[in-house]
Amino acid sequence: MSSSSSSSLKIGIIGFGTFGQFLAKTMIKQGHTLTATSRTDYSQHSLQLGIQFFRDVNEFLEADNDVILICTSIISLSGVLDSMPISSLKRSSTLFVDVLSVKEHPRELLLRKLPEESDILCTHPMFGPESGKNGWKDLTFMYDKVRIRDEVICSNFLNIFATEGCRMLQMTCEEHDKLAAKSQFITHTIGRTLAEMDAKFTPIDTKGFETLVQLKDSTMRDSFDLYSGLFLHNRFARQELENLEHALHKVKEMLVQRMSDVLGTEKTA
Ligand SMILES: NC(=O)c1ccc[n+]([C@@H]2O[C@H](COP(=O)([O-])OP(=O)(O)OC[C@H]3O[C@@H](n4cnc5c(N)ncnc54)[C@H](OP(=O)(O)O)[C@@H]3O)[C@@H](O)[C@H]2O)c1
Repeated sequence: MSSSSSSSLKIGIIGFGTFGQFLAKTMIKQGHTLTATSRTDYSQHSLQLGIQFFRDVNEFLEADNDVILICTSIISLSGVLDSMPISSLKRSSTLFVDVLSVKEHPRELLLRKLPEESDILCTHPMFGPESGKNGWKDLTFMYDKVRIRDEVICSNFLNIFATEGCRMLQMTCEEHDKLAAKSQFITHTIGRTLAEMDAKFTPIDTKGFETLVQLKDSTMRDSFDLYSGLFLHNRFARQELENLEHALHKVKEMLVQRMSDVLGTEKTA
């Protein structure tokens, strides 16, 4: 029987890696019933969490889920959707939710590849296993109700995050991607640049430098699949990368200019 009349949901997770498992723990704690499927066999780990794991995606889809929660990498989403036997869905009116860190890309794919009867909610929890390890209070949860007919299921799902104290923020996928290219993508790019420079703690660190090393460490914990997805599937990211290069070039020019000014003054003195 569907659980649409109660606040307890049956949620099936596709992509049970780092982030899928992180979300699952809170959902279990709240009393939702979870199942999962993934490329890798997480049967043992799922058992410990009290989650039924399906190696067979057909069987996973045949389970009567209220929500299918997509937690795969950005770059694998298209292939994952193509390999899903959608006709095995027990209920074609299922709510599909994605948590990818880019939004226009899943929105477009889900609208194109899912049956017309299925509802679509595109979301981005703006936190992860590190920033959310002590709870989700005051952390931002972005969402866009792309195609919602069953408002009850949708609001029950959103309540998972609202009841944990998240700052719930509704905005379009386009607006999200514009802002995320300026903020999250640049953060990850600086973090990875610092890693290329092998930035590490020294005995004379300022607080500012400690923050940079922490930034490097936290961005390097995320997979390169995640980082490259932020670039490949956000149409605003390339411009921001160019802006960053341009800004670094300008700062260097200011220093070179100052150096020639100082040298010029010394020569004429
Ligand atoms: N980490 C965060 O803090 C965070 C925060 C917000 C949103 N997100 C989003 O959540 C999603 C998952 O992130 P993540 O941190 O777990 O790392 P990720 O590297 O972005 O994604 C790993 C997940 O993708 C699956 N996957 C990768 N390649 C695949 C392929 N070719 N076919 C099928 N499945 C494939 C993995 O399955 P297997 O494990 O079975 O290999 C795993 O479940 C991403 O879309 C990310 O943008 C992450």
